[in-house]
Amino acid sequence: MSFQIKTFEEYQDAYQRSVKDPEQFWGEIADNFFWKRKWTNVLSWNFKEPDIKWFEGGKVNITENCLDRHIYQYGDKPAIIWEPNDPTEAHRILSYKQLLNKVEQFSTVLKNNNIRKGDRVCIYLPMVPELVIAVLACARIGAIHSVVFGGFSAQSIADRINDATCKLVITADGGFRGTKVLELKSIVDDALMQCQSVEKVIVLTRSRTPIAMLKGRDVWWEDEINKVETQGNPPCPAEEMDAEDTLFILYTSGSTGKPKGVVHTTGGYMVYTGYTFANTFQYAPGDVYFCTADIGWITGHSYIVYGPLSQGATSLMFEGVPTFPDAGRFWDIVEKYKVNILYTAPTAIRSLMAFGDSFVEGKDLSSLRVLGSVGEPINEEAWNWYNEKIGKGKCPIVDTWWQTENGGHLITSIAGVTPQLPGYALLPLPGVQPCLMDENGNEIEGNDVSGNLCIKFPWPGMLRTTWGDHERCKQTYFSTYADKYFTGDGCYRSPEGYYRITGRVDDVLNVSGHRIGTAEVENAINMHSDVVESAIVGYPHAVKGQGIYAYVIAHHHIDAEKTRQDILQTVTRIIGAIAKPDIIQFVDELPKTRSGKIMRRILRKVAEDDLSSLGDTSTLQDPSVVDAIIQGAEKIRQA
Ligand code: WTA
Repeated sequence: MSFQIKTFEEYQDAYQRSVKDPEQFWGEIADNFFWKRKWTNVLSWNFKEPDIKWFEGGKVNITENCLDRHIYQYGDKPAIIWEPNDPTEAHRILSYKQLLNKVEQFSTVLKNNNIRKGDRVCIYLPMVPELVIAVLACARIGAIHSVVFGGFSAQSIADRINDATCKLVITADGGFRGTKVLELKSIVDDALMQCQSVEKVIVLTRSRTPIAMLKGRDVWWEDEINKVETQGNPPCPAEEMDAEDTLFILYTSGSTGKPKGVVHTTGGYMVYTGYTFANTFQYAPGDVYFCTADIGWITGHSYIVYGPLSQGATSLMFEGVPTFPDAGRFWDIVEKYKVNILYTAPTAIRSLMAFGDSFVEGKDLSSLRVLGSVGEPINEEAWNWYNEKIGKGKCPIVDTWWQTENGGHLITSIAGVTPQLPGYALLPLPGVQPCLMDENGNEIEGNDVSGNLCIKFPWPGMLRTTWGDHERCKQTYFSTYADKYFTGDGCYRSPEGYYRITGRVDDVLNVSGHRIGTAEVENAINMHSDVVESAIVGYPHAVKGQGIYAYVIAHHHIDAEKTRQDILQTVTRIIGAIAKPDIIQFVDELPKTRSGKIMRRILRKVAEDDLSSLGDTSTLQDPSVVDAIIQGAEKIRQA
């Protein structure tokens, strides 16, 4: 890994070079990967359209970089270690050679099921090795994967399948999460009643939950593999992809009601995830690396699958939840596999912290060398606990700030190389040019300042468009500030020039590290027949980071408790359990301006119980509405 930065001076040098001559800088890094044909042009871009191309003319297949090129040196090295939900079930280890064989087999299965380059494939699987195999098999033949997190509802799956007109769905009979069984196939069956584009469903056996198999549409994963074996396991050469061919779509929530399909392309994403994985975590050959995310989110895509595998790392994936069978599960896993690098989320740290130290004590965590955090700002208390109880004060903690749209880390400390400061993502990685903007669209220069975080210059891992709607990509990310990518986050730059992310400045909540659009939840609630109108805001939550607070106007005749339950059920049906409000307050009116706009600022303050800074309410249609809402909130807090 000749591109690994080892000292702070090297970081500064790399950063300077990356800004002075980005093409030279990224060209040299890309040279560390295997290209079927070298690019002719490193970068062409404009942020107006936006139109961004990295490594144009380059031909590449990311799976050759993640698998084939390691076989000679690392064929027998574990690529994937899989820890099952139930610790009494046997774990599985797939070497690079075995993983390549399985990916080739399943690539042939995809072809046998009429999937070709450019076709979209929806993957709705539990956290089992077959999920990695399915993802890589799509990439191998140039099919575009759209992984949907196992916690989403049938309606959410249907929306995602229809938006991308997927031809195939890959799922399992069911999946295990703690004590629960997720009925994945049955949820897919419900979704597919609304989907015309799907021709086939491949079903993996996992939970042995009874399911329906539709003749002509549904086939078993195992049967399809058997067929390929009878064919004599023909090799499946990697499709030659253009650097800018789409690798995958991943849906994420924004300010509007409809999730958007973030599009990542092949060459730049490969280079960026590999580069950032090796640098941020200071990965060393032989390390066992454990990322606790789900592959249904971007963290799993970039830092369980593509980044680690392109660097020949051993990536540990875990099927279950941190609290099953007890709150010591992560630490058992660290001890069992002698994990060197652990990458998890503040919400997990806070929830485990709440169970007390007894679940950590007595566990051998001495293998740990680097700790990582992702998904939301990490509060100081959680940072200290992570540092002391898990890292024993000797492991650097990297607080990695980035987004689905970014592909990989943008602002983060580098383990043991840059300084670290609790609550600070710290410094931009080489190639990343952040800036802070004020409300008037001017850049805020200097230090000890706060503003809206933008990025001035492209980096290889950035999104290229939103699926089927380029205008939306332009509006959402490139129109708020001219010639800049707008992140949607607020940020403070300290006197030393260190960056601290302060949270979203748009109508997006961050609940347990999951991005949830307030409009999306409102739309779901409004589908309930008793609901007239609703408004969602976030409020501080001790474990989740942010909780979901719903103000709901409902018809008068209703039984409040029953309606509350029905609303929760509706949200679970429309989006998934992850979007269920924590608090529902029934109100008679919502505070609106004379032009009819809901004053969310006021609702947020009431939800936060911060009445001292309610601000000016005189511009409201009816200021007395606020008093009633405050009283209602008070009652809920007392209950
Ligand atoms: C937030 C997750 C503070 C942020 C990789 C961002 C963070 C959103 C951090 C993206 C961090 C992520 N510190 N905030 N280290 N990491 N965020 O798309 O608000 O699921 O905009 O990507 O999470 O969430 P997403």
